[in-house]
Amino acid sequence: MTHLIAPSVLAADFSNLQKDFDMVNASGADWFHVDIMDGRFVPNISFGMSIVKTMKKMAKKPLDVHLMIVEPEKYIGQFREAGADVITVHYEACPHLHRTVQQIKATGAKAGVALNPHTPVQLLEDLIEDIDLALLMSVNPGFGGQKFIYQTLPKVRKLKQMIVERNSRTLIEIDGGVGLQNAEKLLQAGANVLVAGSSVFKADDPAGVIAKLKKIGEQGVYV
Ligand code: DX5
Ligand code: ZN
Repeated sequence: MTHLIAPSVLAADFSNLQKDFDMVNASGADWFHVDIMDGRFVPNISFGMSIVKTMKKMAKKPLDVHLMIVEPEKYIGQFREAGADVITVHYEACPHLHRTVQQIKATGAKAGVALNPHTPVQLLEDLIEDIDLALLMSVNPGFGGQKFIYQTLPKVRKLKQMIVERNSRTLIEIDGGVGLQNAEKLLQAGANVLVAGSSVFKADDPAGVIAKLKKIGEQGVYV
């Protein structure tokens, strides 16, 4: 399978979202990555379901909704109704993660679990076959434009090994500080989905960066 590119709309121009959505719609990108921050799980607030609903109208590709919020189980239904196709919750925010994953699946959305940089991937061992996606944070969640944490690479390799051993189809998504400088290494390590915020939207040629990210590893298919 070829890898997927998910531009993170947190870095888009909120005074003209339509323009940035049109660019992504016309590009080779696969998903829109949508960051929800509550000012509690992370020290920043982004936006809520009404904006997601607006984004859904503009998007011609699936919405990959990343919930950086406490008690996500309270809002899963609303985000699904707003248009989320993939819903990812944080391991660190869910005391009853198995139940929360089942709750996401019951809405018909794909279920993801995200791990903060300090959270070991081994903690996913008893859940890996139940989830569609495992998101590894490669920066501390809360802000776009941060520096990639290189310790993520061995985590990707470990997680990939676990997935292969279990014969599972879980996708590995990497989020934070991803761009042309590290995409190839991530794909070689086993990543399937690359989230890219600043490296796409702050570039002079955003569509060109998406095209390049999509092309990496084309010959050597890493995943
Ligand atoms: C960080 C968010 C990321 C962020 C990525 O908390 O989860 O999705 O938008 O932005 P960049 O690619 O700029 O690091
Ligand atoms: Zn994110």
